[in-house]
Amino acid sequence: MDASAQRIAGDLLAWYGKNARALPWRSPPGMPPSDPYRVWLSEVMLQQTTVAAVVPYFEAFTRRWPSVAALAGADEAEVMAAWAGLGYYARARNLIACARAVTAKDGRFPDGEGELRQLPGLGAYTAAAVAAIAFGRRAVVVDANVERVAARLFAIAEPLPGGKRKIRAAVDRLTPDVGAGDFAQAMMDLGATVCTARSPSCHVCPLAAHCLARGAGAERLPIKAPKKVRPLRKGRAFWIERDRAVWLVRRPGRGMLAGMRALPDDGWSARGDGDAAPPFVGEWAGQGTVRHTFTHFDLDLQLMLYSGSDWARFAALPGEWWPLDELDAAGLPTLFAKAARLARKNGSGD
Ligand code: ADE
Repeated sequence: MDASAQRIAGDLLAWYGKNARALPWRSPPGMPPSDPYRVWLSEVMLQQTTVAAVVPYFEAFTRRWPSVAALAGADEAEVMAAWAGLGYYARARNLIACARAVTAKDGRFPDGEGELRQLPGLGAYTAAAVAAIAFGRRAVVVDANVERVAARLFAIAEPLPGGKRKIRAAVDRLTPDVGAGDFAQAMMDLGATVCTARSPSCHVCPLAAHCLARGAGAERLPIKAPKKVRPLRKGRAFWIERDRAVWLVRRPGRGMLAGMRALPDDGWSARGDGDAAPPFVGEWAGQGTVRHTFTHFDLDLQLMLYSGSDWARFAALPGEWWPLDELDAAGLPTLFAKAARLARKNGSGD
């Protein structure tokens, strides 16, 4: 490690020693790593999701499934329901598959990046993060926070994603042989609390003296390729209520929100953008629309209330009457939880 990299890492770790966020999956700076199960679970939950959103889910999961063996033995539907609201549900399916793979082998997470990457759902980022944070192995951990800190520190102006290679090389140069887990989490905390995207607090930054972008428009870095506009899709979901219960289905095992409990809908997730929902006949009343953002499109979901009484027609379909008083326990993904809130605001279920 060259002398300048050493000074930067040293200043960062000194700052982390005093300013590390206390997070439930984390061991304090300088202490032995925490349980690999907790590190892995937190890293999977934190992909695409904020720390604030993850903490209550992490606590609920670890209370209910305190070890990788417990999670491996869990009922898949219960895990999916406990994940409801976190989004990106493929993560939850991979989570179960990974817990089962680890348990089927010898019950321990491997400690090397290469072996970690063989596990379901572990990409380059997660494998590096677990190797460094749970096992103290030297690994180069680059998430969006780390990327921002490094782009500014070294004034890397090449737009992402092209600039990623340079950023990675810079983080590699800074990563110490010992304490790579603390170093990675220090970079993340600095990015989350000081070197923030819109208005970085350079006056309190422990790396200000080293930072090539300081005073030169640090907040403009990293430069990102322009975002693609998200297309808007339209769909319909159906609220069918009888005796304080609502008709719920389970979504197919493949495709969007796979395996999640849901309101019945018109198949919006399998249609292309801009296709109109098929015309709707029968005894239904529009209840308004909810908007939800997915990775590749926005969805306007119109909620239709069943006003007929041909209950036999539903009993013939796969689904179940779910008591409205226990709707929270159904584990509806956010899209359908929003639709359910709309239905109940409109007076259904009261
Ligand atoms: N984001 C992803 N992993 C994290 C971690 N270990 N600590 C804080 N933020 C994170």
